[in-house]
Amino acid sequence: MAGKIQTIGVLTSGGDAPGMNAAIRAVVRKSMNHGIKVKGIKKGYLGLLNEEIFDMVPKSVSDTLQRGGTILGTARCLEFKEEAVQKEAAAICKKHGIDGLVVIGGDGSYRGAQALARHGVNTIALPGTIDLDIACTEYTIGFDTAINTAMEAIDKVRDTSSSHERCSIIEVMGRNAGYIALWCGVASGAEDILIPEKYDFNEQTIINNIIANRKIGKTHHLIINAEGIGHSTSMARRIEAATGIETRATILGYMQRGGSPTCKDRYYASIMGSYAADIISEGKSNRCVCYRGGKFCDLDIEEALAMTKEIDPYQYEMSRLLSRSEKIEQDHK
Ligand code: ADP
Ligand code: F6P
Repeated sequence: MAGKIQTIGVLTSGGDAPGMNAAIRAVVRKSMNHGIKVKGIKKGYLGLLNEEIFDMVPKSVSDTLQRGGTILGTARCLEFKEEAVQKEAAAICKKHGIDGLVVIGGDGSYRGAQALARHGVNTIALPGTIDLDIACTEYTIGFDTAINTAMEAIDKVRDTSSSHERCSIIEVMGRNAGYIALWCGVASGAEDILIPEKYDFNEQTIINNIIANRKIGKTHHLIINAEGIGHSTSMARRIEAATGIETRATILGYMQRGGSPTCKDRYYASIMGSYAADIISEGKSNRCVCYRGGKFCDLDIEEALAMTKEIDPYQYEMSRLLSRSEKIEQDHK
């Protein structure tokens, strides 16, 4: 879009994530510092289509930094995948004088931002998802809070699991990605960590591991199961039948997405929001803000969406070794 950016919109889209408010706050305050007006858009692309648009001032974001969720609300809006709807949204932006838009969400939301850029709205996307599943960035807003929330919950389940000498399967979120499971599994000393990127669906290996652990006197057996594998309840039934050890499934669910953001999420989200305000004021469009190799940077959304990322093989092997005390003992007898 030619000419200086005068007014931008900001919206959150897809699943909410702790730290989104810190990002919104930074977008609002830094943009206004650049002399750019900011409009808040409620409920993601759905709210844009319904013209739920309001003026924001620095005070609009007071007392929000420490709050979980998103003050703008969020939504999934499937019709936004349609070209005609995207065109209509761009026309709504024009009608409200919005010539730039900051979108905070996951990679689905990035595609919406890309579409709006094609229709002449300068867009910048920020990675807002607890899943850490955006390939172009090593940090996503909300992941740190979610793993800490899940880890604390897992520690609690571990206490009762040990007291009752039970096996526990704890299912964590992450959609098709295993990052939450991997991090929480290692951090809580789980005996088995099942992630969609690596799981071979061989339950017998897990059963053998549970029996071996019981033989060396372990009172609990924690299995962290990623949402992408799922079926924790039926898995618990089969494991109990095969081992004779009481087995319970706990699905942590949405509690992982809520709560006050950690210091890291507040700090990184603030940097990313500020960075977005800077590059949108320079007239950049169709870019996403990333954290790569210890630095914040921006990439073309097209290029970013074409990237893939894998679970780090060293970290995965480490997670397997550290959880297998009975195997280490056998190997070194
Ligand atoms: P996330 O942004 O967390 O990945 P979704 O995949 O549900 O979550 O995407 C959030 C929203 O982004 C969708 O509800 C839709 O409005 C928009 N979106 C997703 N995919 C596309 C697409 N291919 N084109 C345009 N908009 C999309
Ligand atoms: O993307 C975040 C996430 O919480 C995923 O971990 C999960 O699969 C999904 O959102 C759940 O989405 P919804 O809120 O639509 O049930």
